[in-house]
Amino acid sequence: MTNKLLVKNAKQVILICNNGEKFLTKNDMQKLCVIEDGSLVIGSDGLIKDIGPASAIELQYAGASFDHVIDATDMCVIPGLVDAHTHPVWAGDRVHEFAMKLAGATYMDVHRAGGGIHFTVEHTRAAPASTLLASLTGRLARMQRAGTTLVECKSGYGLELQTELKMLEVIEAARCTLPINISSTFCGAHAVPKGKTAAEATTDILQVQLPRLRERMSAGALQVDNIDVFCEQGVFDLASTRAILQAGLDMGLNINFHGDELHPMNSAQLGAELGALAISHLEEVSDEGIAAMATAKTAAVLLPTTAYILRLPQPRARDMLEAGVIVALGSDFNPNAYCCSMPMVMHLACVNMRMSMSEALAAATINAAYALGRSHTHGSLEVNKHGDLLVLNAPRWEHLIYQLGGHQEVIRYVVIKGNVV
Ligand code: NIG
Ligand code: FE
Repeated sequence: MTNKLLVKNAKQVILICNNGEKFLTKNDMQKLCVIEDGSLVIGSDGLIKDIGPASAIELQYAGASFDHVIDATDMCVIPGLVDAHTHPVWAGDRVHEFAMKLAGATYMDVHRAGGGIHFTVEHTRAAPASTLLASLTGRLARMQRAGTTLVECKSGYGLELQTELKMLEVIEAARCTLPINISSTFCGAHAVPKGKTAAEATTDILQVQLPRLRERMSAGALQVDNIDVFCEQGVFDLASTRAILQAGLDMGLNINFHGDELHPMNSAQLGAELGALAISHLEEVSDEGIAAMATAKTAAVLLPTTAYILRLPQPRARDMLEAGVIVALGSDFNPNAYCCSMPMVMHLACVNMRMSMSEALAAATINAAYALGRSHTHGSLEVNKHGDLLVLNAPRWEHLIYQLGGHQEVIRYVVIKGNVV
């Protein structure tokens, strides 16, 4: 049978890991598995069939046929990047708020004044699904060009049943039609809707939104993977967060939520206790929270764009790595942090959060896949995993991070399930 793709003679193939690890912690993130002068074969099913020294693959596949051959001489191959946190479905940009924030307004100043998430909710509720799908498609294409091959996509700009379902249906349409892999997240508890108290919003989520979501999922109309809550002062407190996350867990969703961002909330301890797969942000996490996450194997999804744009304290990446936490990265793409580029995110993680380049790459591949419950199929170049990879037009893979804002020049091919996209 014809194979889909041969990538041959790459100067370096960065496997990330090759012993079936589901995540990496500090020591292994610092010495990634690499094959010098390597080749890789993707079979007709889109899965990786073989990886090895170029000479061995050449011998083994002499006479075999391939739909596509990429000669990667002088180039490098890395796994497709995984973006573990985005809010990509919305209408109405917030460029005017960027100006307010540059002039000194904080994120919560804007939110309390009725802007921020509330502004986006108003525009998203009014937008037809077709408009949302068109803008989502464009945003995902930008992410894909920047090397993202698996992306988490949240709802959360509806804050009521109808619009939350509309957003999830738009994500579902993208998942079924576009090449990029999607992990879908219900984030109905992203903010307390105007005119409701947090208690009323929690009851609505528990008694109206989640039951309807469960029906749609059981009918096979929607695939939703994760549940999210914005656990923050003035948004959802720890008790409401616990109730919503537990309800999501009970219906089979992975817990993956916003915690300890602007104020210390003990979100990390809560997430660890509930067996959360991941918690995002964590700018204000405590030492106890870090220890609890390390023990529970709850991944920390760090979002360097948010800390940068909002001038927040940097997430304590080094303390987390030292403590054995599984550190992952996400772009947090949303109208506040308008960044589609994981290479830019890795760059910020290195410069501002003091991660090494190999730590940043592991955090943006295998560990981000782990945060989405997908590291058995994605996040590294291993036989039988999805054939998702990037061919870099550079003599060392680190150029992807080093060339600040230059990923267009560095990424030569993006491959998803063996297809050049
Ligand atoms: O992760 N912190 C809450 N949610 C988003 C921002 C969403 C928005 O401002 O529209 C975040 O940064
Ligand atoms: Fe977010």
